[in-house]
Amino acid sequence: MNHYVTGAAVKALREKKGLTQAQLAEILAVSDKAVSKWETGRGLPDISLLGPLAQSLGVSIPELLSGETITNRNRTANILRSKFYACPVCGNTIHATGEAMAACCGITLPPLDPEEPDEAHACSVDYVEDEIFVTISHPMEREHHISFIAYVTMNRVDMVKLYPEGNAEARFFLRGSGQLFWYCNRHGLFSRTVQRKGRKNGQGRSWKKSVSRRVCRAFLCASLIKTLFRTEAD
Ligand SMILES: [Fe+2]
Repeated sequence: MNHYVTGAAVKALREKKGLTQAQLAEILAVSDKAVSKWETGRGLPDISLLGPLAQSLGVSIPELLSGETITNRNRTANILRSKFYACPVCGNTIHATGEAMAACCGITLPPLDPEEPDEAHACSVDYVEDEIFVTISHPMEREHHISFIAYVTMNRVDMVKLYPEGNAEARFFLRGSGQLFWYCNRHGLFSRTVQRKGRKNGQGRSWKKSVSRRVCRAFLCASLIKTLFRTEAD
């Protein structure tokens, strides 16, 4: 018989929280014997207690049911370390800047692990002026299709949702080097890097280079003016 919550999960989460059985029992207004029974598999908490139990253990209900806590290790919210989640039932797509407890259609979703694209999921990137055109040669049938393409750079995520019968392509404003992600509903998430390319006459020049160029120019002007005044004074 499958239990909706295991005693081992309750015990592990209680101990992690630093609570005794008696303290947890007091919070939930049950007896400490009841908590002991849950943890030894001789009883289950009433379904109405799942919310308060999860709250008192400092986890979400899905975490309580799975017995695993999710910790976001990307506290700086570095977008380049983004996580994507996709629901296999309804196709819902979730983006997070770190690991999260994501659930949809009653299913807890694991973060998608991007892979190197194989031949069947190869992606071509064409640079045209200040845009990139991304094309994936892949079936776009209801049962098997690319459901999104995302372009992730230092401070931005652009995502294009794709639908069956459409084209597996998207275009993005080129914002410099970053990472492309695309998701096949059967074969998972793929990624590749995007380089800064196709710049003409300084298009897409970084602000750092632009600022340093202006500083150099100002410095040269100041030096020239100083030299002229010195010459006139002499
Ligand atoms: Fe595929």
